[in-house]
Amino acid sequence: MAEDRLTLRMSEGGPVAGGSLFDEIGGSATFDLLVTRFYEGVQTDEVLWPMYPQHDLEGAIHRLSTFLQQYWGGPHTYGEERGHPRLRMRHAAFKVNPDARDRWLHHMRAAVDSLELPELQRVTLWDYLDRAAHSLVNTFEE
Ligand code: HEM
Repeated sequence: MAEDRLTLRMSEGGPVAGGSLFDEIGGSATFDLLVTRFYEGVQTDEVLWPMYPQHDLEGAIHRLSTFLQQYWGGPHTYGEERGHPRLRMRHAAFKVNPDARDRWLHHMRAAVDSLELPELQRVTLWDYLDRAAHSLVNTFEE
């Protein structure tokens, strides 16, 4: 029936009149590619790289990718494996000053741009990442 086709579907962020960004940009494979490229940049960064678990790059890629997939309406693997994200708490151990934030965003921007997403999805994803990174600054010490 026509009414059925008009029913709004639900996503993590509430009702949406279409699919999730997760599906729109290509699902898990796209997020894995995004995060892998992001970490390629991080590995060249003299400030960021020492913060990360060099012996567990695969694990770090998996955690960030599954988190982003869940956030954008994909599988809930992150929650099943790690519980509630509590991102501010999980970043408390790291010195996230404006320099670290800008470096993180620099590498993430390059990774996002490399995907060559349609403009709407690119802006939607980038806007979230930019705001999230600003919200995770936990010190203004140099
Ligand atoms: C602002 C600059 C940021 C810095 C310097 C930073 C740094 C780090 C570091 C060093 C880790 C540990 C790596 C690991 O073992 O997984 C980490 C984990 C993580 N970060 Fe960030 N991060 C930043 C921003 C963000 C943003 C904007 C997000 C989300 C959009 C995010 C999401 C995560 C997640 C999901 C984890 C894994 C948490 C866990 O389950 O243990 N981070 N971050």
